[in-house]
Amino acid sequence: MFRTLNQLNVRGKRVLVRADLNVPAKDGIVTDASRIERSAATLCDLARRGARVVVMSHFGRPKGVDAAFSMRFLVDPLSQAVGQTVLWADDCVGRDAARLVGSLRDGEICLLENVRFHPEEEANDPTFARELAALGDFYVNDAFSCAHRAHASTEALAHLLPSAAGLLMQAELEALGKALEKPEKPVAAIVGGSKVSTKLDLLGNLVTKVDYLIIGGGMANTFLFAQGKAVGKSLCERELADTAREILDKAREAHCHIVLPVDVVVADRFGENAETQVVSVDAVPEDQMILDAGPASAEAIIDRLGGCKTLVWNGPLGAFEIVPFDKATNAVAVWAAERTVQGRLLTVAGGGDTVSALAKAGVEAKFSYVSLAGGAFLEWLEGKELPGIVALSQGA
Ligand code: 3PG
Ligand code: MG
Repeated sequence: MFRTLNQLNVRGKRVLVRADLNVPAKDGIVTDASRIERSAATLCDLARRGARVVVMSHFGRPKGVDAAFSMRFLVDPLSQAVGQTVLWADDCVGRDAARLVGSLRDGEICLLENVRFHPEEEANDPTFARELAALGDFYVNDAFSCAHRAHASTEALAHLLPSAAGLLMQAELEALGKALEKPEKPVAAIVGGSKVSTKLDLLGNLVTKVDYLIIGGGMANTFLFAQGKAVGKSLCERELADTAREILDKAREAHCHIVLPVDVVVADRFGENAETQVVSVDAVPEDQMILDAGPASAEAIIDRLGGCKTLVWNGPLGAFEIVPFDKATNAVAVWAAERTVQGRLLTVAGGGDTVSALAKAGVEAKFSYVSLAGGAFLEWLEGKELPGIVALSQGA
């Protein structure tokens, strides 16, 4: 177990916080501030309690120092989110950083430049980690979405300073724990997205954990194909048919019920205003491609979920980016959101596309928890240990 934020006595202390400020941005403007906004709780709590708060993060995947990946443009949005002026250091280690951190007064917050400007960050380099550690008395990791990376600011550092989980990290772990570790049963998972190949480990783990595994998106086509159905021009990983059958077998052994589409929306191309029709999965025309689950499938999914207490959702049911291929995703999302509001279903969703799909359906705020983590959420669904969490639990 790890310490929580309230267990640290932070007044007058320098607290190094690893946040995930790796936000979507275009031309120096933040296009989705969710990660900044959710990071604010921990920073404000620390500042209010008189800590000298030093925020670290990465932004993008720069190879060395690269002005295009500077985090300076985040100072204003972060200041807005925390309701006070955030100070800035041009480097995350070295003299400038030390001078700025040394000048902080109790309750002040500063942001350090991109930790990935130093290749030692991704190398989990111990010397670099010690340089970072020199800037703080405590270490707080609030970046669940980076916990799958064993980097200096997410792993090594946790061994060098007395450490704790931030409020966002704690919320994230609690929500995920409720969804899969100690869920109220029956529990269902919806796994969508385009490819089976990227989600093999995830499917393999989930069939041992959930009562119903609902498969949608392009990956469902591979399963339909593996069951001998014609999928026309659909996206389909034919070479994974054996693997798909193995997953179906494993599910049967684990008493996990797999739910595949029974009808689908097809079109001859993936584009706006394409002519669509709904067909049975046994009658997909040769010249058409599957782009969404059909209405009977959505109804069958909702029917299954009606008996469930917990739902974990990763990946849309169709090509939701383009209307009307968002219909099945929207129908199930709206139903699950209402059910959540009624207190009858715990809903936890995560992964980039999933969050966009739920936001597009207008239900993000109604879900019990929506994780802003992408890769970390997937690895957690795969049942893997996340180095950032392990290090935090071992602590210093
Ligand atoms: C993310 O957006 O997935 C996290 O910020 C981690 O970033 P990374 O995938 O570049 O390590
Ligand atoms: Mg990532």
